[in-house]
Amino acid sequence: MNLLIMGLPGAGKGTQAAKIVEKFGLVHISTGDMFRAAIANQTELGLSAKSYMDKGDLVPDEVTNGIVKERLAQEDIKEKGFLLDGYPRTLDQAEVLTAILKELELQLDAVVNIEIASDKLVERLSGRIINRKTGETFHKVFNPPADYSEEDYYQREDDKPEAVKRRLDVNIAQGQPIIEYYRAKGLVHDIEGDQDIDLVFEAIDKVLSNLK
Ligand code: AP5
Ligand code: MG
Repeated sequence: MNLLIMGLPGAGKGTQAAKIVEKFGLVHISTGDMFRAAIANQTELGLSAKSYMDKGDLVPDEVTNGIVKERLAQEDIKEKGFLLDGYPRTLDQAEVLTAILKELELQLDAVVNIEIASDKLVERLSGRIINRKTGETFHKVFNPPADYSEEDYYQREDDKPEAVKRRLDVNIAQGQPIIEYYRAKGLVHDIEGDQDIDLVFEAIDKVLSNLK
C-alpha cells in the first residue's frame, strides 16, 4: 500500500503516521524529519534547509524532490509500501511525484487528508514536545508523556510563534491546489482531525482497511 498523509502544520500527520506504519508495516517518509536529521548531522543538505525551516518557509522544490526520489528508489519501498508525510507540499512537487512514481513503477493508493480549522493549530504546535531519545511526539496538555522532564523533552525550533504563523500562511496557500490535484484522481479520503488522537486513527484505519 502506497499512501500520502496531508494536513496543515499540527494537524497530526506525524502522530497518525506513526500509528499507520506500525499497523500496516509501511516505510514512513517524512521530509521534515529527513531535514531535521540532516540539520542534526550538520550535512550540506541540513545547512541549506535550516535557513528556510527556521523561518517557516519551504525548502526549495529541487532539493526536496531530490531527496524524496532517492528514498523512493530504495529496495524496501517495493516490498513494504510507503507513507509520505509532508510531501508533496507544492503543486510542482505533486507533479514531480507523479513522474517519479511512474518511473519507479509504483502506484499511489490513497491520500489521507486530515482536516482541522487553522485556529486550533497554534496551541497544538506551541505545546508539542518530543522525546530526545525515542523521537516520539507528545503534547504537554493533549497527550502528555508519563515521564515528562525538561531534560528529556525538547520543542522544535519552528514551533516558536513567528515561525508557526509563517508556516500556517505558507501551507494554507499551497495546500488546497494539491488536494484538488489528488481529488481529481479520486484518491482523497477526508478525515476529521479535531477529535481525540485515537478516534482520528480509528477513522483512518477504517479507510485503509477497506482499501486492502
Ligand atoms: P514538517 O516537519 O512536515 O512540519 P509540518 O507540516 O509543519 O507539520 P508538523 O510536523 O508540524 O505537524 P504534524 O501534522 O506532523 O502534527 P503532529 O502529529 O506533530 O515540516 C517542517 C519544515 O520542513 C517545513 O516548514 C519546511 O520548511 C520543511 N519541509 C518539510 N517538507 C517539505 C516539503 N515537502 N517541501 C518543502 N519544505 C519542506 O502533532 C502536532 C501536535 O499536536 C503534537 O504535540 C501532538 O501530540 C498533538 N496532536 C496530534 N493529534 C492530536 C489530536 N487529535 N488532538 C490533540 N492533539 C493532537
Ligand atoms: Mg510532522
